[in-house]
Amino acid sequence: MSTGFAITNYPDADMVTAQLDALIKKPIYSIGRDALDRYEREYFDKKCSSSKAMIAEAKGAIPGGVQHNLAFNHPFPLVITKAEGAYLYDLDENKYFDFLQAGGPTVLGSNPPEVREKVIALLEDGGPSTGLFHEYEYKLAKKICDSVPSVDKFRMLNSGSEACMAAIRVARLATKKKNIIKMGGAYHGWSDQLAYGIRVPGSKGTQAHGVPGYLFRHTQEFFPNSISSLKRQLRLNRLRGGTAAVFIEPVGPESGTRPLSKDFNKEVAELCRQYGALLIFDEVVTGFRIGMSGAQGYFDVRADLTVFGKVIAGGYPGAGGLGGKDEYMRYLAAGIQTGDKIHRALVGGTMAATPLSCVAGYYTLEEIEKTKACEKAGAMGDRLTAGLQKLIEERHLPFVAFNQGSICHLETVGTMHFSINWNKPWTIPKVINETSIRKKEMEYMGAAYMAEGLVTLAGSRLYTSAAYDEAMIDKALEAFERVFDQVEEII
Ligand SMILES: Cc1ncc(COP(=O)(O)O)c(C=O)c1O
Repeated sequence: MSTGFAITNYPDADMVTAQLDALIKKPIYSIGRDALDRYEREYFDKKCSSSKAMIAEAKGAIPGGVQHNLAFNHPFPLVITKAEGAYLYDLDENKYFDFLQAGGPTVLGSNPPEVREKVIALLEDGGPSTGLFHEYEYKLAKKICDSVPSVDKFRMLNSGSEACMAAIRVARLATKKKNIIKMGGAYHGWSDQLAYGIRVPGSKGTQAHGVPGYLFRHTQEFFPNSISSLKRQLRLNRLRGGTAAVFIEPVGPESGTRPLSKDFNKEVAELCRQYGALLIFDEVVTGFRIGMSGAQGYFDVRADLTVFGKVIAGGYPGAGGLGGKDEYMRYLAAGIQTGDKIHRALVGGTMAATPLSCVAGYYTLEEIEKTKACEKAGAMGDRLTAGLQKLIEERHLPFVAFNQGSICHLETVGTMHFSINWNKPWTIPKVINETSIRKKEMEYMGAAYMAEGLVTLAGSRLYTSAAYDEAMIDKALEAFERVFDQVEEII
């Protein structure tokens, strides 16, 4: 039966959390050192020598050799030259299953011809941008408004980070309140105010190097999946300027790495109403991946503002935007302003909403809807996860696999399941040390997957797309099996 959504079996958050709690108390199991050494010498050094040479040169021009963390890989990043459907190919002509999916946007798979042909036609006609209005700005906005019930209007921006920044300004103008609360561990881009509580709940501003501490005066975090912790913060804020907004990644921090109970979002929505705060759903990953109406459609929640990114430009550049109810979207500056005289937020960007990003986004969303891509990608996620769980069980490994449709998690070390407790400051150095040891092991696992022909997100997250079929997933599982067979207790 068609549900329209990627998720068929919502994970039992309490059960997964208990498994992850147990995982981080156990010894670390990771790819055996002999196997890792063999992969480094026989795969990376021999079979990826062109990538190795290019990255060595790139280090002279690019800090760290790559422009963003997604591309990082142990022992060196691979140079990708071709992407097609569920496959990636590197400079040395090695072929991989793509479970990174460009970090999430390519729900249809890479480079679908239905979108590419429209992009090429647009480029031939008018090039990528003119600075003036283009019909696809309207078509994309209309498509998003028609698909997501809480979105009356849509403002296109360049990235998810920018859209989160815009959302904060709108929320403060609309509520006349100051504070922003986010879930610990969640990622809402790299802007100053939201570089707070990233990855590790309770980490506050400790990872925001270069951001003055006073910028976090009005940002707070609450513990994932804890309504009481959110309530406490909302109550506290009543005495210090009120809460303008609560930011939520609707399947949980870091795209559901810490899963949320199914009714959690509804409870957050209720609290937001009670305390007069706007509910901001960050659907950068979940939008048009969980379903055409987003995760909010799946959870049956109406967000006040919705942050979009990634898929809304179909993997092409310029992927970000803010949508929401008319009563809030009127706080955005630009264009023909009618109605009350109110202060409006300055947002924008020369390259925001180029015809290129809008045409790519529009046909991507059309194609996702037409082909039921969210459901198809979700079914592939279910198959992959069930296969991984079986492999783990058969080998009595402590690993944890679960999924929210096409967002699959393979936790081998539980790096992101730690948290920082400021009431016990003596434990903080131990937590930081433990997470960095485990992160390294996750990278080694990522390298082993890569050498077996599997591109993952940082060795622990796997996005599936509609370009997969069952036989491909089964083939990918055979490659995971080869890695799991070489896992040992390391520490
Ligand atoms: C949930 C979420 N919000 C915001 C962002 C930031 O989006 P961008 O990388 O387009 O700035 C990301 C990026 O991964 C994300 O996963």
